[in-house]
Amino acid sequence: MDMIPILSRWTHIGTAIVLVGGTCFLRFVLAPAAAQLPEAEHAKLKELVMKKWKMFVHVGIVLFIVSGFYNYLVVQVPKHRGQGGLYHALMGTKILLAFAIFFLASALVGRSKSFDAMRKNAKFWQSIMILMAAAIVGISGYVKVALPGNSAPAVTASTLNHASPDSSTTAK
Ligand code: HEM
Repeated sequence: MDMIPILSRWTHIGTAIVLVGGTCFLRFVLAPAAAQLPEAEHAKLKELVMKKWKMFVHVGIVLFIVSGFYNYLVVQVPKHRGQGGLYHALMGTKILLAFAIFFLASALVGRSKSFDAMRKNAKFWQSIMILMAAAIVGISGYVKVALPGNSAPAVTASTLNHASPDSSTTAK
């Protein structure tokens, strides 16, 4: 059995769990709790948390891109060759949404002055990212279940005939 597709899928889904779960925690648990602190402590806590979270965001983006493009170009494209374009249209939409999230996540953990206004409004942008991630997970699950492509050629009529001891009768 080829372990690389399994490892790649494990990496991809594991990264989604950590990054989407972490963003939900920041938005709905840590941010409201930290908002109760005095202003200076709140600002310090935010700075320290974002400094740590930044590493997760940067490593996660790399893991998403490497495992995602491997899953797409090496594993899925051959399975969907010769089929309609719906699979690729949905995957294209998903990839665009993913890159928009990568941009927002990088801006929120970054230090560039150009994105100060976004960082001041972090709760709003985290909510947008969570909604976009929900759409991405929905699209990913839909293509997996409804548009699975061609799996291993083990179930073609000719291989069934070869596998069955009375294939000469069933084939007629
Ligand atoms: C925010 C970023 C992303 C999230 C949250 C995400 C999430 C997921 C999840 C949860 C699955 C598993 C779906 C299932 O098996 O039910 C999946 C599958 C997949 N993802 Fe991503 N993904 C992201 C980015 C990307 C990127 C950038 C690519 C690059 C091409 C990509 C390519 C794929 C492919 C090819 C599959 C397999 C689809 C299939 O089974 O046909 N993903 N993704």
